[in-house]
Amino acid sequence: MQYEQHTSLPKPDSESARHSTRVARFIRDEIASGGGCISFAEYMHQVLYAPGLGYYSSGTTKFGAGGDFITAPEVSSVFGHVLARQCAEVFAQVDDASILEFGAGSGNLAADLLRKLAELDALPVSYSILEVSADLRERQESFLRNEIPELINRISWLDEMPEKHSGVVVANEVLDALPVERFVRRAGRVMQICVATDGEALSVVERDAPEHLAEAIAAIETDLGWTLPEGFTSEICLAAPAWIADLASILKEGAAFLFDYGVSQREYYAEERSDGWLRCHFRHHAHNDPLIMPGIQDLTSWVNFSAVAEAAVAGGLDVMGFATQAQFLIGGGLEQELADFTELPIDAQLKLSGQVKLLTLPGEMGENFKCLGLSRGDITSPAAFNSADRTMSL
Ligand SMILES: C[S@@+](CC[C@H](N)C(=O)[O-])C[C@H]1O[C@@H](n2cnc3c(N)ncnc32)[C@H](O)[C@@H]1O
Repeated sequence: MQYEQHTSLPKPDSESARHSTRVARFIRDEIASGGGCISFAEYMHQVLYAPGLGYYSSGTTKFGAGGDFITAPEVSSVFGHVLARQCAEVFAQVDDASILEFGAGSGNLAADLLRKLAELDALPVSYSILEVSADLRERQESFLRNEIPELINRISWLDEMPEKHSGVVVANEVLDALPVERFVRRAGRVMQICVATDGEALSVVERDAPEHLAEAIAAIETDLGWTLPEGFTSEICLAAPAWIADLASILKEGAAFLFDYGVSQREYYAEERSDGWLRCHFRHHAHNDPLIMPGIQDLTSWVNFSAVAEAAVAGGLDVMGFATQAQFLIGGGLEQELADFTELPIDAQLKLSGQVKLLTLPGEMGENFKCLGLSRGDITSPAAFNSADRTMSL
């Protein structure tokens, strides 16, 4: 199997290149201890999260203009402000509501949510952040200490999921950062795509899928009603249902807002999508070769939202709604957020309209990014899901 050529990628600076060489050496050692190859999911886990080495665990800039990709909270505060309005609606229905954010990135979303909730007089009792990267956790703390000193006492960092949580759970682009298995259908069998070495370089090999993977693909095929065609290559995130099961077990009352780029299961495994959904990001260039630049490029896979919703329902949660990011923002109060638009100076108007376009246009982040809303208890769906709910598509 070949990955597409990537001649147009920028060259990493010398420090990043040195870091990547160290990560590659570590991966080769892992492959040697794994008996000659490791699963793609193990490879993705290590290149993203190996302590001190992985993309998210080492000290490079990832988010925004100076990094590799941009996320909605980095585009504009409008995103967090509209989400805060939905949180306030949930808080009105739950006693002693708190927020739990997973994978808080730079800390921007936490700052925007808390600022807006203070303005709405709907602050949560506490704001907890569960971040797997020690480096990002440090950065979030110093950023938030600086940005919202008056609210910092409400924020704390957790090492693991709390035993229980009431209020709101937020995760923006966390599901897409969970490691995925890659597989291919060959001669009636499911093959697991693994990473091996070819001299100093990393290469791809296939082996018979272990039972749990073959069974998971068989279950998808039963659900789809067809067998995936010969050569069909794709991903499955076995970590997502486990993560959702944990989330379901702690959410006692309230709602979860999970944002990511993703599609329904039917679209995920559609015949024309025969090379899967894995994407790599380096300095704002997207490509599909996960084996180059280990540890200094982001690896991510679109989300199968049907599988996420199914795991949530199995854990006793309700699906509160499923909307594109554009529908979510428009339904959730974007217009109110822009009420003072014409009073802004012209350069601020231009800047803000550019941000809103990026967040909402179908060719930008408006259509591919979605929000899955989950709930437990007698929670009325917030406004963001009321106009164009797509739950039936899951
Ligand atoms: C693509 S970044 C998104 C960051 C941020 N939410 C944003 O929108 O800018 C993915 C984040 O998820 C974190 N992450 C990955 N797996 C996680 C897990 N199991 N629990 C909590 N955070 C996780 C990463 O460390 C990183 O902060």
